Amino acid sequence: MLSLKNVSVSYGYVTALQDISIEVPKGKIVCVIGSNGAGKTSLLNAISGLVKIKSGEILFEGEKLPPQSHHRVRKGIVQVPEGRKIFAGLTVEENLVIADPKGYKGLKEKQDEIYNLFPILGQRKHQQAGTLSGGEQQMLAVARALMANPKVIMFDEPSMGLAPVIVKQVFKLIKTINEQQNMTILLIEQNAKQAMALSDYCYVLENGIIKTEGDSKELLNNPNIQKAYLGA
Ligand SMILES: Nc1ncnc2c1ncn2[C@@H]1O[C@H](COP(=O)(O)OP(=O)(O)O)[C@@H](O)[C@H]1O
Ligand SMILES: [Mg+2]
Repeated sequence: MLSLKNVSVSYGYVTALQDISIEVPKGKIVCVIGSNGAGKTSLLNAISGLVKIKSGEILFEGEKLPPQSHHRVRKGIVQVPEGRKIFAGLTVEENLVIADPKGYKGLKEKQDEIYNLFPILGQRKHQQAGTLSGGEQQMLAVARALMANPKVIMFDEPSMGLAPVIVKQVFKLIKTINEQQNMTILLIEQNAKQAMALSDYCYVLENGIIKTEGDSKELLNNPNIQKAYLGA
């Protein structure tokens, strides 16, 4: 559904991604794991159009993507950014309303669908988003992404800054939208073990290069991978 072919990204003299090829098939959860500075955010920003690629190509449903990022959102590529970036001073409902690309048309049904999926957000729709717990804020960030009727949702380190028990809930939430809505997911994480456990296929990114890739369950059980990335 989404394929990157030999993509490179640089910032001046700094090469952030070098010759990266990644496939995200429809309905699957694909993860990219890597430590700080590996190039994870650059990868997502290249796909969403926030940074320009230096070479290579990105195809979505077999076609080249339009250059501007809001056009890519319309095509169905939506990003849940690092640090969630919800509007803390606005209510839960206001955060959802401003995320609707169609303005107010069809908004009510879409909101009801989202409050069905996340009853906690429905109970708190008039509460300021900044006063939600970390896990609820992540839930709101996911809900906001769903407002755009995405075909693929990309998560940039959703576990960052959350307590382990909340991380579990967030990963479960990702699994739920994958299963219930057949949503295609590209998950970027430092938390290698949990990302591999959740996903179907996994790429390991190091210093802008794909070091290893494979079926997630196989990688999880591979002693070399365990030693290098899973603290075994
Ligand atoms: N806007 C930028 N200007 C210059 N260098 C950048 C910029 N953004 C990221 N980098 C560099 O690119 C590399 C990859 O960064 P990034 O994609 O943010 O990694 P990650 O998300 O895996 O931590 C790092 O060396 C980082 O310092
Ligand atoms: Mg990052």
